[in-house]
Amino acid sequence: MLAENYSFSNSNYKSLDLFKLVANNLNVYKNEDKLYFKPKDVKEWFYEWDFKEYNPNIYSHGFHQYPAKFIPQLARKLLRLFTNENSVVLDIFMGSGTTLIESILLNRKLAIGIELNPFACFMAKVKTTLINPDVLLRQFYVLKTLFFQKKDYEIYTFHNIEYWFKEKQIMDLSKLREIIMSLEEHDIRDFFLLCMSEVVRRVSLTNHNGFKLHRDKEKIKDSFNPDVFGYFENVSIRNINLMKDFFYKALNSKTEVKIIFGDSRKKQNIESNSIDFILTSPPYGDSRTTVAYGQFSRLPWQWIKNDKNIYKLDEKLLGGKIKSYLKWEILEYSNTLKLQYSEIKTKDYKRAKEVISFYMDLYESLLRAYDYLKKDKYFVIVSGNRTVKKVFLRTDLIISEMAEKIGFKTEKILYRNIINKRMPLKNSPTNVKGELSNTMLKENIIFLRKE
Ligand SMILES: C[S@@+](CC[C@H](N)C(=O)[O-])C[C@H]1O[C@@H](n2cnc3c(N)ncnc32)[C@H](O)[C@@H]1O
Repeated sequence: MLAENYSFSNSNYKSLDLFKLVANNLNVYKNEDKLYFKPKDVKEWFYEWDFKEYNPNIYSHGFHQYPAKFIPQLARKLLRLFTNENSVVLDIFMGSGTTLIESILLNRKLAIGIELNPFACFMAKVKTTLINPDVLLRQFYVLKTLFFQKKDYEIYTFHNIEYWFKEKQIMDLSKLREIIMSLEEHDIRDFFLLCMSEVVRRVSLTNHNGFKLHRDKEKIKDSFNPDVFGYFENVSIRNINLMKDFFYKALNSKTEVKIIFGDSRKKQNIESNSIDFILTSPPYGDSRTTVAYGQFSRLPWQWIKNDKNIYKLDEKLLGGKIKSYLKWEILEYSNTLKLQYSEIKTKDYKRAKEVISFYMDLYESLLRAYDYLKKDKYFVIVSGNRTVKKVFLRTDLIISEMAEKIGFKTEKILYRNIINKRMPLKNSPTNVKGELSNTMLKENIIFLRKE
């Protein structure tokens, strides 16, 4: 059922009465701190899905950049609507851990995240570990003294390091890394490693605002000589302040956190029918033509841990490789995919196969999610539609149709404007250099229920 007149403002799926759900839960918003939520009435709550005027960089959410992060307020609203303090929450594409942090703030029983990017797992671990901010501040001043006193240290190295960093920054980062690694308390050490990692991208020769690795011509010039410790100080003080807000807000939270470094397409160590709510946002397409999480993570992760596997990460993620064996049944699971596949195939067979490979992977992940979830419970997926070879791929409908084949019921699809999400907003749908079109200015929120 490919919608001819695609309208973002309404939906074919209306069985979930969100208005009622929001109204019933309104009492729980009343005690929220004013900065975070300022609901005036039920109506405002019902219609607020864009979160334009909200700061996404609150608490530990603001520690570090990560591509296509959830807006925390969106995750929080969904968690409030579908869970309570006894709930077990799962995010099958955890990324930097937004769902887990929000579960802690809401004192949910258990928050589980599955993620295949080791750097994202590290980030989520740091962002969900509460540390007393006074201890962190004291440690920061110890690090500062050591940094300016230290004369002997080893120069750190990894493959191609000189291509991405100038000599002075390699020396300063090596010294900084060595003193951080000497900290005995692992959680404190990891906290400062993450602060260092935010500095790595800035002082490297990459264009640090993009997600792909490119040398920035302006940075190769002699005038580019960034102050490693200066940046580190700024990031550390900012993150300690964010930790302070998080620490005191979540002090009484009893949430247990479980981070699984693994593949959401495969069965993980999670019992069948044990999860009360799944909230997730999968990649919008393969890493080559959408967000390259591996490329984004490569330099920071190599400074934290010299791990060569990060080079192959993009191939391992959803849709990372064209499958040698294409499972054509997938076209029978979704009529929309079938129609759109034939359209792309007439233009470019290889691209059409890439598209199928991505949805085959996504289907595997949906199958696993179905197994983990309890009956009658909800699975909310935030995703985006994109254009391939001038075909506007309706991932919202494709997900919904594939999910229904598995045994979910699509209760509702809402569409929200993307405001804060860090995504490349322009790309070339035809892959012709220089040809640009606006893409992904809306995001889909798909509400599925396990029948
Ligand atoms: C849109 S991001 C999620 C962002 C997350 N909601 C946040 O707030 O940070 C999608 C994530 O899926 C991960 N991913 C891709 N394929 C995966 C797979 N097969 N198994 C587990 N994680 C995967 C990527 O590494 C990426 O971090």
